[in-house]
Amino acid sequence: METPSLNEAKKRTCNKVNIIRNFKIDDSLKNIGKNKKYLVKTYGCQMNERDSENISAILEGMGFKKAIDLNDADLVILNTCAIRENAHNKVFGMLGRLKHIKQKRPLLIGLCGCMAQEEIVVEEIIKKHKYINFVFGTHNIHKLPNILKKCIDSNKLEVEVWSKEGDIVEDIPIKRENKYKAWVNIMYGCDKFCTYCIVPYTRGKQRSRLKEDIINEVENLVKEGYKEITLLGQNVNAYGKDIENYNYDFSSLLKDVAKTGISRIRFVTSHPWDFTTQMINTIKEYNNIMPYIHLPVQSGSNKILKLMGRKYTRESYLSLFKSIKDNIPNVSITTDIIVGFPNESEEDFNDTLSLVQECKFDLAYTFIYSPRVGTPASKMVDNISLSVKEERLQKLNDLINKYSKLSNEKLLNKTVSVLIDGYSDKEGMLSGYTDTNKLVNVKAPKEYIGKIIDVKIIDVKTWSLTGEIIK
Ligand code: SAH
Ligand code: SF4
Ligand code: F3S
Repeated sequence: METPSLNEAKKRTCNKVNIIRNFKIDDSLKNIGKNKKYLVKTYGCQMNERDSENISAILEGMGFKKAIDLNDADLVILNTCAIRENAHNKVFGMLGRLKHIKQKRPLLIGLCGCMAQEEIVVEEIIKKHKYINFVFGTHNIHKLPNILKKCIDSNKLEVEVWSKEGDIVEDIPIKRENKYKAWVNIMYGCDKFCTYCIVPYTRGKQRSRLKEDIINEVENLVKEGYKEITLLGQNVNAYGKDIENYNYDFSSLLKDVAKTGISRIRFVTSHPWDFTTQMINTIKEYNNIMPYIHLPVQSGSNKILKLMGRKYTRESYLSLFKSIKDNIPNVSITTDIIVGFPNESEEDFNDTLSLVQECKFDLAYTFIYSPRVGTPASKMVDNISLSVKEERLQKLNDLINKYSKLSNEKLLNKTVSVLIDGYSDKEGMLSGYTDTNKLVNVKAPKEYIGKIIDVKIIDVKTWSLTGEIIK
C-alpha cells in the first residue's frame, strides 16, 4: 500500500469506473460470527457514518450480533477519520483502551476508514500496534468477509488497503441507524485538492454513482416509510462531472430525487465553486428540498483562499451567498472556517471576521489548521503559533455564536415544521430538526416520533430551540 503523491493522485482518472453489483457473502462465511458480538465505532463525517451502516450489515450477515458496549463486544472495528491531528489522537486513545481489554480477554480489533488509507498510520500499526487484528481501507469495505476470515485463520495482522480507487460497489447490505432519516451517497472521493485537505488521498478521485441507482435507492426509502434523506458527497455540486458525456448534473439529480415524493431532501457538502444558478432555482422550485445549505468558506481572505487552492474569491463567495439568500426564502446557510493557515496574518484573519459579520451564518464549524502529511500545505511552514491560533479561534467562535443566537431568536414565537426523530437529551422531551436544520426540543408524547409536525418556538438558545406542539 502506498499513499499516492499529489501529482500521482491528480493524474489518476476514474473514467473507467467499475460498478460492482450483486454483493454476496459466501455461504462458508455466514457463521463466522455465530454467538459473537460486534461494535463499530465511527469517527469523522457522514461518509463514515454511512460506511459503518454497511460494515454493520456485513457483520450481521456473517452471524455477529450488535454489542451494547465495549465490554460486551468480541469484535470492535474503528472506522477512523484523518482530517485533523486530534481525529488521529482520539483513535489512538481508543486503541490504548482496547489493548488493555485485550490483555484480559480475547478481542478482535479492526481498523478501517480514512486513517487506514494513510501510509504512516499503517506503518505505525505494523510496528507498534500488533494487537490489532486487521486493517482495511475505504475502497475495499466489500472485502470485509474475506479479510475477517483470513485474519481469524492466520491469527496474524491482516492489512488489505487498496491504494487505487476505481470501483463503485452497489448492493452492499445496509443496516440504517435511523428509521426516518437516511444517508444516500451520490458520489465518492473528491477532485478538488484543497491544499490542506487529506480527503482526496484517503477517498480517492471523484466517482459519481449512476442516477438510476440513486433514484432507485430513494424510491425504496420512500416505500419503507423514510421521511428524510441527505444526499452525500464531498462536493455534491460537482455530481456527474466525472462521467464522460453525462449531461446530467446535480440540479437534474435534485429534481429527480424531489419527484420521488420523499418528504425532505438535504445535501452536503456544497463547494462554492460548482454552485450554479440552476441549483438555486431547483431548491426554490421544490418544497421538499430543504432551504438549508452548508457552504464552507474556509477563509475570508483572498490571499489565504488562494493558498488553500479553493478556486473562488471572497467577492465571488459573497455574491453567491447573496444570490442564495435573495432567491430562497428563509434559507439557512452554515459554513466551515479554518484559522491559523500558514501565513495567515492579523489582516487576513480580520477579513474572515468581517466576512462572518457580513454573512451572519446560522452556524459555523470552526477549526484550527492541522497539517496533514502528504498534502501541499504540509510543505508550507506552519508559522502561526498555537497560542495565536487558539486566540483567533476563540474570537471567531464568539462572533459565530452571536450570530447563531441571533438567527435562532428570529424564530421566537414562530411556527416551524419539525421532523421528530427521537428522544431529546432533555428529560421528558422529544427532538428533531426544522426545515432549516435547527435542533428543536419539544414536549410531546412518543407517538410523535417519526412525524413531521408544526411546532411553536417558545424559547431559544445558541444551538437549540424549544418548542411546543400546536394543537
Ligand atoms: N468537502 C467539504 C469538507 C470536508 S472536511 C468541503 O469542501 O467543504 C470538513 C472540514 O474540515 C472542511 O470544510 C475544513 O474546514 C476542515 N478541514 C479539512 N482539512 C483540515 C485541516 N487540515 N485542518 C483543519 N481543518 C480542516
Ligand atoms: Fe477536502 Fe476540498 Fe475536497 Fe472538501 S472540496 S473534501 S475540503 S479537497
Ligand atoms: Fe474524516 Fe475521511 Fe470524512 S478524513 S472527514 S472521515 S472523508
